[in-house]
Amino acid sequence: MDLKWITVLLFSAVCGVSASVPYQYLFVNENKTWTEAQSYCRQMNTELATINNMEEMENLNATLKDKARSLVWIGLEKGDTWKWQWSLAAGNFNSEGDAYRNWSQGEPNNNGGKEFCVAMKNRDGTWIDDNCDTPRTFMCYDAEKTTTDRYILIKSSVTWRKAQSYCREHYKDLASVRNQTENQQIYTAGKALENYLFWIGLFSDSWKWSDQSTSSFRYWASDQPDNGNENCAAVSMTTQDAMGRWYDVNCAEKIPFICREYKLILINQNLTWREALRYCRVNHVDLVSVHSEEIQLWVKEVAQKASTEHVWLGLRHTCTLSFWFWVDGESICYQNWAPGNGTGEEDCSPVERTGVVQSRGGQQWVSLPENQKLNFICTTYED
Ligand SMILES: *[C@@H]1O[C@H](CO)[C@@H](O)[C@H](O)[C@H]1NC(C)=O
Ligand SMILES: *[C@@H]1O[C@H](CO)[C@@H](O)[C@H](O)[C@H]1NC(C)=O
Ligand SMILES: *[C@@H]1O[C@H](CO)[C@@H](O)[C@H](O)[C@H]1NC(C)=O
Ligand SMILES: *[C@@H]1O[C@H](CO)[C@@H](O)[C@H](O)[C@H]1NC(C)=O
Ligand SMILES: *[C@@H]1O[C@H](CO)[C@@H](O)[C@H](O)[C@H]1NC(C)=O
Ligand SMILES: *[C@@H]1O[C@H](CO)[C@@H](O)[C@H](O)[C@H]1NC(C)=O
Repeated sequence: MDLKWITVLLFSAVCGVSASVPYQYLFVNENKTWTEAQSYCRQMNTELATINNMEEMENLNATLKDKARSLVWIGLEKGDTWKWQWSLAAGNFNSEGDAYRNWSQGEPNNNGGKEFCVAMKNRDGTWIDDNCDTPRTFMCYDAEKTTTDRYILIKSSVTWRKAQSYCREHYKDLASVRNQTENQQIYTAGKALENYLFWIGLFSDSWKWSDQSTSSFRYWASDQPDNGNENCAAVSMTTQDAMGRWYDVNCAEKIPFICREYKLILINQNLTWREALRYCRVNHVDLVSVHSEEIQLWVKEVAQKASTEHVWLGLRHTCTLSFWFWVDGESICYQNWAPGNGTGEEDCSPVERTGVVQSRGGQQWVSLPENQKLNFICTTYED
């Protein structure tokens, strides 16, 4: 077996930068209820689709294009708890940044049970919750710009959702506020306004993703969601609807759906390296090969969920020729060895050495004998 890999290796000894896609969307053209669709995706080791930002929405749209002519389930459903969140394209907040609030006294008060969007008072920079359908001026945010001119006040008055669409189309998103400095900058940019209030990117909803992801990205059609009994979300690919936009739909309807498949998955079984390699090749594609820092970042994230201290990679040592290689045939260009590992003589007795990544801590690579029993990471599709 080793000989075959070495042969492949000799033909691919050039280090290239391989761009890797961390996920792909899979359209399933079978009519199912939302719950049936969720089970179906899970049986295939995928999840009903999550969409984190506009780029992913375009990617999903491209996957459905020419295939779907109807509503298509995505992984969003209504839950019981309401939560304030920032319109996501404005930035991936850590929990600390997400915590900043500057409510006016007595706010948020959810007056009339209808206040799910947030506006800033241009008098003092504090916030109120308000009905999302109220037309207001709004503050966009441009990620490319430096701090002083990254906030753009738009002086026409529209609903919160229209404001969000406008900002996403022309800039990045509605303005988000991570700390007092940013609040002051936005307040300053909005000060000149005659109107009293302008929209910022904070909103509240009770929708949640099937894969537990915290993405606050929403792409509802205007006036959606519009029905208290429609608790699941679907993308519409029909020409009479706003194509590519989201609608709330009765979860019992039977329509096609779209799953999201992650390129790397952790297998929570304790197997030897050879067993793990066989498992990945039979059930998926291969043990993971880490060709770039980008892939290493994904590996780190996936490995954190392991129950073992180390996780197998497709990293193999040959004692005969005394070097390391990847099982997919590529040579080792990018490296992330822990000190003392991978670079010196390997102890080849009694079995061959193989490579793992540490599940926690520095998450570097370590050399271990192949007969240990560990969790491992498979790739699920080829680039
Ligand atoms: C799903 O249902 C629609 C509407 O009833 C129908 O037109 C379509 O052919 C069905 N698709 C499949 C794959 O059964
Ligand atoms: C999705 O594609 C349709 C046409 O194929 C287009 O009209 C629509 O704007 C697209 N939406 C997004 C979000 O890319
Ligand atoms: C406010 O948040 C921005 C963006 O994360 C950061 O660059 C800046 O240093 C923060 N300012 C303070 C005072 O924390
Ligand atoms: C609220 O915003 C105003 C204007 O930026 C600022 O003066 C005030 O200190 C802020 N309050 C908090 C608690 O950040
Ligand atoms: C795998 O091994 C770890 C550490 O020894 C243990 O905690 C875990 O329960 C094992 N998992 C399985 C599925 O046997
Ligand atoms: C390999 O790295 C691990 C973790 O840092 C360390 O415990 C071990 O001693 C290293 N192996 C060698 C041969 O130095």
